[in-house]
Amino acid sequence: MGNTTREDIVQQLEQLRRAAEVALAQANNSEQTQAWFGEYLGRKGQLTALLRNLGGLSPQERPQVGKVANEIKVALEEALQLRQDAIAQAELEAMRRAESVDVTLPGRPQTLGKLHIATRTLRDIYAIFAEMGFQIYDSPEVETDEYNFQLLNMPPGHPARDMWDTFYTTTPGLLLRTHTSPGQIHAMREYAPEPIRVILPGKVYRYEAVDASHESMFYQVEGLAVGKRITFSDLKGVLMNFANQMFGQGRQARFRKSYFPFTEPSVEMDIDCIICNGKGCPVCKYTGWLELLGAGMINPLVLEYGGYDPSEFSGFAFGMGTDRMSLQKYGIDDIRYFFANDARLFERV
Ligand code: FA5
Repeated sequence: MGNTTREDIVQQLEQLRRAAEVALAQANNSEQTQAWFGEYLGRKGQLTALLRNLGGLSPQERPQVGKVANEIKVALEEALQLRQDAIAQAELEAMRRAESVDVTLPGRPQTLGKLHIATRTLRDIYAIFAEMGFQIYDSPEVETDEYNFQLLNMPPGHPARDMWDTFYTTTPGLLLRTHTSPGQIHAMREYAPEPIRVILPGKVYRYEAVDASHESMFYQVEGLAVGKRITFSDLKGVLMNFANQMFGQGRQARFRKSYFPFTEPSVEMDIDCIICNGKGCPVCKYTGWLELLGAGMINPLVLEYGGYDPSEFSGFAFGMGTDRMSLQKYGIDDIRYFFANDARLFERV
């Protein structure tokens, strides 16, 4: 290298500068500018390699070449800085574009939550009875044998217990209530000898062969009125008013003789089918009638268990299965949908 002249080196430096400028213009991201720096300006880069050749120059030439080399180095460093700034700006822009909200896109539909049909039916019932002066009375879902059966005139061994078989806890005598009727005793014992007008809503449980119209857990609403001179006509009047408000004015009703140990006399109330208006259809099994509830005048023995003197007081009670009402009202053909957690059930309401 001893014969390398000053002109050679300056020429090479100029070439390096041009090559570096072209390469820098092609660097499009931070990694590429870093690689470019290593290639041209780094410790192992081309500029350093060139300057190693200065040894062949005279002591006067060396500073002159060094000055040119330094100017090129500074110029390239400035160019690098500009390029890096431009790239950083472009990267920022790209990121902003990727993250930005496109206000011209159509919105995603929001599906609003809805009340469960079972809850809607219960609230409709509460509102209708509230207008007739019935308050809501809460009573326990876990009951004793005494309240679920004995105080409702079903002593141990009574055949009616078979209809209302249930789930027993590991504590003897403690069970899941089969109906809301035990609440009658709780309410009477709390208010006797004052008159009462309450409804008792809630879940009930049965040891049941589950099918389209039978669940092992379902809702009932019990009604209870106790006072002086309450008659069967009062019961009919309250239930007819309820049926008209719940299912539409002008409902036909019929009361069939029935049996419940805790009411005497006992009836079952049917209304004309709300789907076919009594003409006959699959929902009413072509009878024209839908069974609505069980009811009756409170058995004097039960009044007494509740703390009322039956020679002075009388009362009526009724118990309705509200999930079956929901099936009828919304034209749903299987009660098991209510606990199947399929939101499509609610599209029809
Ligand atoms: C009773 O539970 C009585 N406690 C009702 C009563 C109260 C009569 C007060 C007199 C005075 P029953 O077992 O029939 O009666 O049930 C009442 C209603 O609950 C039925 O008409 C029906 O609508 C509903 N029901 C009964 N079993 C089921 C079931 N497995 N799944 C869904 N609903 C049911």
